[in-house]
Amino acid sequence: MALSSNALRAIFLLAVVVCAANAGKPAQRRRTSQAIPPPLQMPPLPTPPFPMPPHQRGPADPPTYPRPEPRATGRRTAPRRDLAQYKTNWIEIEHIDNLVITGKGTLDGQGKQVWDDNKCDKKYDCKILPNSLVLSYVNNGTVSGITLLNSKFFHMNVFQCKDITIKDVTITAPGDSPNTDGIHMGDSSKVTVTGTTISSGDDCISIGPGSTGINITGVTCGPGHGISVGSLGRYKDEKDVTDVNVKDCTLKKTTNGVRIKTYEDAASAVTASDIHYENIAMEDVANPIIIDMNYCPNNICTNKGASKITVKDVTFKNITGTSSTPEAVSLLCNDKLPCSGVTLDNVKVEFKGTNNKTMAVCNNAKASSTGCLKELACL
Ligand SMILES: *[C@@H]1O[C@H](CO)[C@@H](O)[C@H](O)[C@H]1NC(C)=O
Ligand SMILES: *[C@@H]1O[C@H](CO)[C@@H](O)[C@H](O)[C@H]1NC(C)=O
Ligand SMILES: *[C@@H]1O[C@H](CO)[C@@H](O)[C@H](O)[C@H]1NC(C)=O
Ligand SMILES: *[C@@H]1O[C@H](CO)[C@@H](O)[C@H](O)[C@H]1NC(C)=O
Repeated sequence: MALSSNALRAIFLLAVVVCAANAGKPAQRRRTSQAIPPPLQMPPLPTPPFPMPPHQRGPADPPTYPRPEPRATGRRTAPRRDLAQYKTNWIEIEHIDNLVITGKGTLDGQGKQVWDDNKCDKKYDCKILPNSLVLSYVNNGTVSGITLLNSKFFHMNVFQCKDITIKDVTITAPGDSPNTDGIHMGDSSKVTVTGTTISSGDDCISIGPGSTGINITGVTCGPGHGISVGSLGRYKDEKDVTDVNVKDCTLKKTTNGVRIKTYEDAASAVTASDIHYENIAMEDVANPIIIDMNYCPNNICTNKGASKITVKDVTFKNITGTSSTPEAVSLLCNDKLPCSGVTLDNVKVEFKGTNNKTMAVCNNAKASSTGCLKELACL
């Protein structure tokens, strides 16, 4: 198994229990044959009882990283400015089966110090700042109860994982902090996020390329950019996104509600399909329902409208509440590859402002509507 030292220390200090039990099946691509240690309990401290495993991309062991203390403070702070202290991420847990991270602790990413260094809105090949908590190549993992605060980049990134549950987690960053997505996932299957409250400066949850079998329930998001599929098509050879269910969620004062975003110049063919939103409450959301196939933040795209992305079989059911702009529904699909199989069922979102009225903007979308506000029946 591989569990990096920083991860362990942070977890210890959080008074968290890490279980790496059930040696059962080895993790994919495990590179060592060390025995799987028994479940850990708090304490023992300060020395983790693991042999320090090799890791590919784990966090650096920064020299100024404070030593863990026997009495857990319940709060862990990331090194602030000196990015050389990170290999890539802050805490990365990789190549492990049957992981449990649980506790009441806080991972404070101290992002404020470096948010200004983030240039990812301006260039494709930007320097990516450290994510706070990364799970990669984890099979059967649970993260519950913890709080993540002010990450430098994403608060959580779930990459190449299978059977992951994230529940009762709190994620908090200011609405204007760049790329502080709450939970990003990609190249992963069977990921469940439930009972989680997220405020951030970017997507509360972003469901990236290669995500399949994703269930999001009972999530409250705001401020933030909503619960998004995508963005898709920024990079070459991305994998499809399919079987996504978002249910019983509330969005409060977010820029988007439920969104699918694909780059307008995506070079490789990718499909987003079988995506379902149900029982979603909008409170003062700018774009409550939006499919944006012309996504191109800050005009960094090179080949306008040449996207090879397909969006199909998307349902919006029982979506209610208020919108802060007149366009409660925006289906902005591609003229060469229209969206198909889009269903609006009981969509009732009212424009909250004055001097205008609720409307739907539907371009190149093959959509059907039932039981919607008549202004939102996008036909
Ligand atoms: C998943 O992990 C938990 C916690 O370690 C363990 O109790 C459970 O048996 C695992 N499930 C499977 C299918 O391995
Ligand atoms: C997601 O929800 C669907 C429908 O409730 C269920 O059939 C499926 O097993 C769930 N997937 C996971 C990964 O929990
Ligand atoms: C519609 O969704 C809301 C939550 O947004 C929920 O309270 C209500 O019960 C749902 N209605 C139906 C008919 O499922
Ligand atoms: C109403 O909103 C639409 C869409 O944002 C806008 O194009 C239009 O000019 C607005 N009308 C008025 C009277 O403000």
